Amino acid sequence: MRRKLVVANWKMHGSRARNRQLLDAVKPPLQSLAGRVDIAVCPAHLHLGETVAALAGSNIRPGAQNLYGLAEGAMTGETSASMLVDCGAEFVILGHSERRGHLGETDAEVADKFAAARESGLIPILCVGETRAERDAGETEAVVSRQLDAVTEKTGMEAMRGAVIAYEPVWAIGSGTPATPEQAQAVHAMLRERLARRSEEIAGGVRILYGGSMNAANAAELFAQPDIDGGLVGGASLKAEEFITICTSAGS
Ligand code: PGA
Repeated sequence: MRRKLVVANWKMHGSRARNRQLLDAVKPPLQSLAGRVDIAVCPAHLHLGETVAALAGSNIRPGAQNLYGLAEGAMTGETSASMLVDCGAEFVILGHSERRGHLGETDAEVADKFAAARESGLIPILCVGETRAERDAGETEAVVSRQLDAVTEKTGMEAMRGAVIAYEPVWAIGSGTPATPEQAQAVHAMLRERLARRSEEIAGGVRILYGGSMNAANAAELFAQPDIDGGLVGGASLKAEEFITICTSAGS
């Protein structure tokens, strides 16, 4: 039985004061979900240290939104996996479609980042997902398979043990309209089946989150699907009540 995981992706939102306020509001109610659902919050790098401090003693775990795939070196402006670990991150979101789409991040770069995360002990959250045009062209399976295979081919199947995948259809992100539970379940099952061809045991333990306009009103029916093991939540994670409701749905 996979315990559900809800991850807040704060993206490039927040300030020191607003983050404190939000965490003060969600920490006490979410404490009652300890042991029933795993919860993580991924702030901007600059806010990671303070977020880690604010989460101390709570059941919410800190994560980051990106890393650079080298251990250390001359790479101005970048942040390595070991730096994130040193600052207290436990998770890292990788290959988000905003980075693939706007910043030109390639499958190969995402695979390097995944390997770097694993080497440093971070739990990677690998984002995959198709655009509207790709879905309309019937290419969903091909696209997400390519994104997944780029990682498993580089790192080997063992690196997927305990890892997290987030299926985020690009057309659903920030649109207000999520994939239907059936659409999401179909892709989640397909991803798990693809992993199971290489190791059924490892595939059974990988948590596959859904992301893309998840909110308090639609989370429960998405979580009810057998292969949806949680959520990667953007906009709704910035609103205390919404996020609390989503986490509570995942824990019930
Ligand atoms: P959204 O974003 O919940 O605002 O659609 C999700 C994501 O991009 O991770």
